Amino acid sequence: MTKVGILSISTRAYHGVYADESGELIRQIIHEATGWEVASYLVLPDDAAQIRDQLAAWADDARLDLILTTGGTGFAPRDVTPEATRAVIEREAPGLAEAMRAASLQKTAHAMLSRAVCGIRGRTLIVNLPGSPRAVHENLDVILPVLPHALALLQENPDAEAGHRFEDAS
Ligand code: MTE
Repeated sequence: MTKVGILSISTRAYHGVYADESGELIRQIIHEATGWEVASYLVLPDDAAQIRDQLAAWADDARLDLILTTGGTGFAPRDVTPEATRAVIEREAPGLAEAMRAASLQKTAHAMLSRAVCGIRGRTLIVNLPGSPRAVHENLDVILPVLPHALALLQENPDAEAGHRFEDAS
């Protein structure tokens, strides 16, 4: 069973100034597209140490397969999600971030302002998404088709290798 964690990063949502719409949206999209279980969900403030520790705990202790973060990837001084993510990943997965930015640039020049990082810790894939619900939708749509294959490869599932042979046809 694939286990997913959703980490919403917003100081204002953390303090209840507004509801965390983006975290709920990710849950809905993932559920409808894959049927994967959202095993963990949390809202944290824009605090690099807290974000880093949570990502490490979800990867090492909870052994989640996929962690999707939302928020804190922009240029504001408080935006530290990419730095916290880079502190815990062992291998970068730049293709995912490149693909999301490339596709997003077709929709808005502001896509250049996302500093999102994607990478792997152990057998956990960590993906930064921007904060707004619209941006979450537009970015998640780009990587959803490859996520099952990405997670299968991380598990060294023999079926994942077979998938390579058919990828041109899909
Ligand atoms: N990507 C898409 N597809 N659609 C968007 O509306 N917004 C951008 C960008 N990426 C956006 C997007 C904006 S305005 C910013 S500032 C950055 O993501 C970072 O967002 P964050 O600081 O909320 O993480």
